[in-house]
Amino acid sequence: LHAVVGRHPGAAVRRDDIALVPLTDRRKDLSPMSKPRILVARNIFPEVVERLSQHFEVESNPQDVVWTPAELAQKLADKDGALTTGSQRVDAALLAAAPRLRIVANMAVGYNNFDVDAMTAAGVQGTNTPDVLTETTADFGFALLMATARRMAESEHYLRAGQWTKWSYDLFAGTEVHGSTLGILGMGRIGQGIAKRGAHGFGMNVVYHNRSRLTPELEAECKARYVSKEELLRTADHLVLVLPYTPASHHAIGAAEIAQMKPTANLINIARGGIVDDAALAQALKDRRIAAAGLDVFEGEPAVHPELLTVPNVVLTPHIASATVPTRLAMANLAADNLVAFFEGRGPLTPVNTPAGKRA
Ligand code: GLV
Repeated sequence: LHAVVGRHPGAAVRRDDIALVPLTDRRKDLSPMSKPRILVARNIFPEVVERLSQHFEVESNPQDVVWTPAELAQKLADKDGALTTGSQRVDAALLAAAPRLRIVANMAVGYNNFDVDAMTAAGVQGTNTPDVLTETTADFGFALLMATARRMAESEHYLRAGQWTKWSYDLFAGTEVHGSTLGILGMGRIGQGIAKRGAHGFGMNVVYHNRSRLTPELEAECKARYVSKEELLRTADHLVLVLPYTPASHHAIGAAEIAQMKPTANLINIARGGIVDDAALAQALKDRRIAAAGLDVFEGEPAVHPELLTVPNVVLTPHIASATVPTRLAMANLAADNLVAFFEGRGPLTPVNTPAGKRA
């Protein structure tokens, strides 16, 4: 084709040259819009991008550039769908700049990066990736709980720094896990997974608070008892946060809530930054008002509150609770499946909204 159209890819094509272009190429040239156009906003598994390419015209991001909102808007100007991660904000301004956009498939179970009302009003479908990450994320929640209670990060740093010279009776003595009280704030699928691990694996006394109570059957399965938020704060030896981030859960744990916790308690956040007031938590850890914290998510991440980086009694991980290879692959595939099902007219598999009308 290059020889036909001349030396420069952009050179004008003469009418008699057109006949030399193979029919299939011409078809493609004449109807470049035949397949929906999809933007994959961050680098993901190449095999999933390849699979998307069988259905769509795909613009992907193999360099994994973190686009600014303006760059993202520009990329979406001619796209019909997008695969996003939790770090792309989808709001009214972005939607206005993307008039063709009909669906955004988030590769995350949480979708606080979506302005769902704005999407619904604009006729844009949103989807997320529930279920496929439940057990993996519950595993990690429990791992972070144990690492925090048993001071694994702090003691490892001490050893690596060559500070370990002798056994001591109280060297990195932590808090008990088995038989203690596990408090869970937010009792969705992941919260239930953590409750089961604690109750059945570690003989923990499980209490929870949630917007709505579980059915008696689910409470029995999780061996979990519903309590008020106040009782949860007051009684938990380990308080695990697994609730969605919404305006109502902003700073659900701040100085006043931390003050109600036991001085020996640990706080674990695997939900979202912003649910905890990180400045208040850093101060509380410094003052030893609670024993320790384990944090996988941060307000304004990937930035971390500087005080949290200096206090020893906190385990910090970079938002990796769902990060095993099989689970991340399942998440990417589910996001892709949502796009395929939507454009095939089968409806999204895991919708987060029900847009009333279609975009023009
Ligand atoms: C990760 O944070 C997710 O919401 O899936």
